[in-house]
Amino acid sequence: MTAPDELRQKLQSVGQEHVLAFYDELPKEHQELLSQQIDALDFDLLNEWVETYVRRKTAFEIPAELQPPEIIPSDGGPTAEEARKRGEELLAAGKVAAFVVAGGQGTRLGYEGPKGCFPATPVVKKPLFRLFAEQIRAASIRHGVTIPWYILTSPTNDTATKAHFRQNDYWSFDPKDVIFVMQGTMPAIDFNGKLLLARKYRLAVSPDGHGGSITALRKSGALDDMAGRGIEHISYFQVDNPLVRVLDPLFIGLHDLAGAEMSAKALPKNDPMEKLGNFCVVDGKVNVIEYSDLPEDLARSCLPDGRLKFSAGSIAIHLFQRAFVERLTEGGRCLLPLHRADKKVPYVDTTTGQSIQPEAPNAVKLEMFVFDAFPLAEKTMLLETRRQEEFSPIKNMEGVDSLATSLHDQVRRWAKWLEAAGVSVPRDADGHVAAAIEISPLYADSADELAKKVDKTISISPGQNFYLGSRGQIGGA
Ligand code: UTP
Repeated sequence: MTAPDELRQKLQSVGQEHVLAFYDELPKEHQELLSQQIDALDFDLLNEWVETYVRRKTAFEIPAELQPPEIIPSDGGPTAEEARKRGEELLAAGKVAAFVVAGGQGTRLGYEGPKGCFPATPVVKKPLFRLFAEQIRAASIRHGVTIPWYILTSPTNDTATKAHFRQNDYWSFDPKDVIFVMQGTMPAIDFNGKLLLARKYRLAVSPDGHGGSITALRKSGALDDMAGRGIEHISYFQVDNPLVRVLDPLFIGLHDLAGAEMSAKALPKNDPMEKLGNFCVVDGKVNVIEYSDLPEDLARSCLPDGRLKFSAGSIAIHLFQRAFVERLTEGGRCLLPLHRADKKVPYVDTTTGQSIQPEAPNAVKLEMFVFDAFPLAEKTMLLETRRQEEFSPIKNMEGVDSLATSLHDQVRRWAKWLEAAGVSVPRDADGHVAAAIEISPLYADSADELAKKVDKTISISPGQNFYLGSRGQIGGA
């Protein structure tokens, strides 16, 4: 632990000594906690962040030349068969790991606890983590290998996430194949460039964004663990999208055959102004430009054939070559550009000692976004995906991207899989599915898999809660 005088001097040199306002009155263990947090700060970087993102509020500069990227159609294009086979070979050879980023704060959902524990399916109300666990186990069983699962947590939810896995017997994984990776944090900075105290003994910090996952893989030793297991590709997804296909052989195969360091699934936007990052090409490199940074005239611009020029949205489904993540973190970490968000951050007033709950944004939160790694990749690959098959996130308590919309979309997708397999599904006069339907990924994790095994004569009544369990048994109330 750095001596208090040294700490004070260090802080004075960067105008942040106010965070020691209560230091002398703190019990020893709290002094240590605060010192450790301060020790972990990189003061040069802190000064740079204050100058660049707080005082100057550097605005995003739209590149002069912006082109749409090449995107492989959702059927996989002419090499689809070869790619699917390649993906399956890589899975069977144990060269692919699953990686879910679950370190976010989930403020919009307002759920007590890690988002991955949120009950998210229509009949069984499976937690998101269970839904993904079943997909990964299904792929492990199908390919006769152990597929390890890496889970990004943050200091706020790491303990609760681990407890959830312990309480649920690791959702039938061997605990050594579930690897928790804790991400770093960034300090909150008020509009005068000052660090804030969340408690008298603790700086106000928040997770450093999903872009922090890259450094976290290195620092936690997860990259070495992957190397030891012979993992070549990392299948990255977000914790809040129950429709995601966690390990998709076609996507994996296309990525591998293209020699891509980083790949993504791209979603045709519903509307030019839809709130998704936009895939663009800048100086020959794929970039994702946030919806808020893309001027409306560009967002609405069309190609000569009338199609939207920037129609591809980012839904944070990626593949990384492990070697790429190693290259990015060669110096120990990967500093991606920071994105500023103005937030209401509760703090302790260092002159009065009072706890303040601000009513308006009072501080800057800085985050890294994983898609900013795209321009750093030598080669990339984008595959189009279909919304109804693969994207319906749970972000908000109500309205768009909420549990209600996601349940509706999950039922709709499972109903379509059943109908494609020849099973009759009740629908109302408007064509909406008239039952709650859920299928265990352990039974079938794709329409093709379902068509191979389902009994076409099963009947589903209107209003029924219909669950097709791991062995094809019918459940639900
Ligand atoms: P979001 O950007 O939706 O943020 O994260 P969030 O924290 O979940 O929710 P809000 O904005 O507070 O309401 C997208 C994905 O990235 C992960 C989240 O867990 C989610 O899977 N994430 C986000 C992290 O793992 N770490 C972060 O620091 C931020």
